[in-house]
Amino acid sequence: MKAQDINFNASWKFYNAEAEGAEAPEFNDSDWRNLNLPHDWAIEGPFDIKYNARSGGLPFHGTGWYRKHFKMEADAKGKVVRIEFEGAMYNAHVWVNGEFIGNRPFGYIGFEYDISKHLKYDGSDNVIAVKLKPEDLSTRWYPGAGIYRSVWLKIDNKVHVGQWGTYITTPTVTKDLAVVQNETTVVNKSSESVEVKVNHEYFSPEGESVSFIDETISVAANTSGTSQLFSKIKNPKRWDTENPNLYDVVTTITQNGNVVDTYKSRIGLRSIRYTKDGFFLNDKPVRFNGVCLHHDNGALGAAVYRRADERKLQIMKSMGVNAIRTSHNPPSRELLELCDELGLMVQDEAFDVWKMEKVPNGYNLFFDEWGERDLKDMIKRDRNHPSIIMWSIGNEIIEQKDKKNGWKVAKRLNAYCKEIDPTRPTSAGFNHYSSPYDNNMAQQVDIAGMNYKPTHYVDVRNNYPELPFVATETSSCTSSRGIYHLPIEKYRVHESKHVTSYDLIGPVWAYPPDIEFHYQEQNPHVMGEFIWTGFDYLGEPTPYGGRDNSTNGYWNDDWPSKSSYFGAVDLCGFPKDRFFLYQSQWTTKPMIHLLPHWNWKGMEGQDIPVYCYTNCDSAELFVNGKSMGKKVKGKDLTELLVSFNDYEGETFQSKYRLSWNVPYKAGDIRVIGYKDGKPVQEEQIFTAGKPAKINLSVDRTEINADGVDLAYVTVRIEDKNGNLCPMADNLVNFSVKGAGRLIAVDNGNQISVESFQANHRKTFSGMCLAVLKSSEHSGTITLKATSKGLKSKSVTVQTK
Ligand code: GAL
Repeated sequence: MKAQDINFNASWKFYNAEAEGAEAPEFNDSDWRNLNLPHDWAIEGPFDIKYNARSGGLPFHGTGWYRKHFKMEADAKGKVVRIEFEGAMYNAHVWVNGEFIGNRPFGYIGFEYDISKHLKYDGSDNVIAVKLKPEDLSTRWYPGAGIYRSVWLKIDNKVHVGQWGTYITTPTVTKDLAVVQNETTVVNKSSESVEVKVNHEYFSPEGESVSFIDETISVAANTSGTSQLFSKIKNPKRWDTENPNLYDVVTTITQNGNVVDTYKSRIGLRSIRYTKDGFFLNDKPVRFNGVCLHHDNGALGAAVYRRADERKLQIMKSMGVNAIRTSHNPPSRELLELCDELGLMVQDEAFDVWKMEKVPNGYNLFFDEWGERDLKDMIKRDRNHPSIIMWSIGNEIIEQKDKKNGWKVAKRLNAYCKEIDPTRPTSAGFNHYSSPYDNNMAQQVDIAGMNYKPTHYVDVRNNYPELPFVATETSSCTSSRGIYHLPIEKYRVHESKHVTSYDLIGPVWAYPPDIEFHYQEQNPHVMGEFIWTGFDYLGEPTPYGGRDNSTNGYWNDDWPSKSSYFGAVDLCGFPKDRFFLYQSQWTTKPMIHLLPHWNWKGMEGQDIPVYCYTNCDSAELFVNGKSMGKKVKGKDLTELLVSFNDYEGETFQSKYRLSWNVPYKAGDIRVIGYKDGKPVQEEQIFTAGKPAKINLSVDRTEINADGVDLAYVTVRIEDKNGNLCPMADNLVNFSVKGAGRLIAVDNGNQISVESFQANHRKTFSGMCLAVLKSSEHSGTITLKATSKGLKSKSVTVQTK
C-alpha cells in the first residue's frame, strides 16, 4: 500500500442487464443507479427457486455493468496510473475511455492494469466501464455478484515499487534474533536506465524504529529490478496465535536524492516447520483447531466489509479456533489482514476445481488459460502475511480419479507455489481414500489434506509412514439453531426442513464432531482439523436440495431451503449448540452449556434428553431444584447414533458430551460445572412464558463514522422475566434515525426467503439480527424495534 493510492470505491453507476455500447465513453448512463463499492447485486434478491437453491436462490447470474466517471489532475500526466480491482465476480471485462483493457474470469482474484496511456489529463471526463457476466451453474455455493471488493487508483512516478512489490520472509527467527529477507521489485517505466537507492526501515509493534538498511541498484529502461536485503532484529517480538505482534516496514525509493516512492508492508516474525508428526510455530507444536469458511457474510452477501470479517473471526476465536481454511478460494485482503492481527493461522486455498468439472459452467473452463496466473497471483498477493502457514492448490479435485494425469497437474501447481514462495508448505484437500495416494497425487504436496476420512488415519500412517497430513475438512454435521426434534433419531432429512440441534445429523460422509475428536486423539501425528464449517453460508443447503454433494445441476427439491446447515454458528453469527461442543474441546477457561430449551408443553412426564457441553471435570444437573446426578467427563458416556461412509457400527459412545434423560415438568433446568471438585460454572434455562418484550443488544456502542463501519444488533423475544422465548417467530419492525442506516436483517433460518434488505424480520427460535451501517457524519444512530403486542425497545450507537 502506498499513501498516494486513491480509494476508488465511491460514485459508480450500475446497471443490472446487458447494455449495448456501454463501454463507449459517450454512452448515456444518467438513468443508471448510483452506488458505492464494494457491491453485491445478488444479495439484494429477490430469492427465487429459478436461481438454484444450491447457489443460495439469489440472482447472481446475468450481466452487470459498472461505470465510473472521473477527472485526472494535469500533474498526473507523465506518471504511471494503474487501476486495481481486488475482486469482481465474475468474468470481468474492462474498458477505459472506450478502449478494451483486459479481462479476468476468476472472481476471487485481484487484478490491475496500467491505464496511463488511455487517460485524458486535460480536465475532461474519463470513463471506466466494467462488464461482469457470472453464469448459471458455475458454482457449488453462493458466490455473490458484482465489484464486491475494493478498487484503487494508483498514481506513481515512472520509477516505483511494483504491484505486490515487497516479498518479505523470515529465514531465521529465534527468541534472540530474527533475520528478515526483503526482496523488493522496482519498476522503471522510463526510457532511461536509472540508479536508485532502496531502503527499508522496520518498526516494532510499539512503533519504534528497530532496523534500517539500504542499497543502490540500477534498473534498465522499461524493465524492473530487484533489491534483496537482509536485516537483523534483535529480541524480536514474535508473531503467534496468542501474541500476534506485527512489524511495519517502510520502503523508500530514492532517485538522484529525491524520494520517488514510499511503500508500506506489514509483517510478523515467526518460524514455521512441519514433520510427519506435526506442525510447529516458533518451534512449539501446534494443532489446528480450524474452521473452513466461505467468503460470504450472510445477509451482507459477498461485499467486503472489514467489520463483518472481523466479527466473524472474533466469534471463531471465541470458539477456540486458531486456524482458518479459506475454502475454497483466495479470500479478501481484509480477511488476511485480520487473521494477522487476531493471531489466526491460515491455509490459503486457490481452487475448488482444476480442469475436470464439478458444475457445467465452472472455473474448469478457464483453468488451462488462467490457472497458473491465478495461483501465482494469489501467492504474490498474500505471501507477506504471517498468518498464512500453508498454500492449498485445491479442494476435492476431480482429477483424484484420473490415474494417468491427475498427479502431474498437482506436481505442476505445487512447483508454481515453490517458485513464488518456497517458505511455506503446500497442501490440497483429498476426499477419496485410497485413490489419490495410490496414484501418487497426494504425495505431490508437502502436507496431504484428508477430507472426512477419520477411520483411515491409521491406514495412511501405516501405508505412507513418511507422509505428513492434516484433516482439511471434518464433520459436516448439520443443525438449525434452537431446533430440537424428539425422540432423537438419525434421519436423513426432516419434514420441517430443519435439522435437530442434538448434533448428530449430516449427509452420508458426515459425522458428529465427537468422532473427529476421538480419531484426532488416537492419531496425534495428524496436524489437527478444519471443521466444515465455522459459519453457515449461503447456498448448499445439504441435507436438503435433493442431491448429494457431487451432483451437478439444480438443487431445488426442498425449496425454500436455501442456505447451509453446516455451521457451528448460524448465518447471523449466533452460536448454535455445536459452537459450545467445540469450545468445550478447544478452550480451557471454564465453560458450560446446556441444551435443549425447556419449553415442552404437552410432553409433561416424558423423558427429554438433556446434553451438557463443558470443559469442566464433571457436571451436576438439577431439574426444578432436584439433582439428577453428577456426571464425570471421560467416564460417563453419551451414546450417539452415528453412521457414515467407512464407519462400522451404528453408534458411538462419546466422552465429549454429558447427558441425562429427565422427565419434563415446566420450571427450570440448571447445571453446575466442577473443576477439581469446586463449582466453577453454571447455566440455567427456565421455561419461558408468553412473548412480552423485545430485547436488543449491540456488539459495539461506538463505531467509526466512515460510511462502512457496522454495528450488529441482536434482537431477542423475551417473556416478562427476560427469558428467551425459544419458539417465538414474531415479526419485528425496525426504524432507524440519525447517522446511519439499516443495511441488513436476518434470523438464521435456512428456509426463510424473506429479503435481507427489508426493515422488518420474523424472529427464528426467538432471535433475529439487524445490521446498521454508519454514514460519513459523526452522530448517533438510533434503532427502534417494535412488534405487535410486545414492549418495544431502542438502542443507540455513537459514530465518530
Ligand atoms: C465437501 C466439500 C465442501 C462442502 C462439504 C459439505 O466435500 O469440499 O465444499 O461441499 O463437502 O459437506
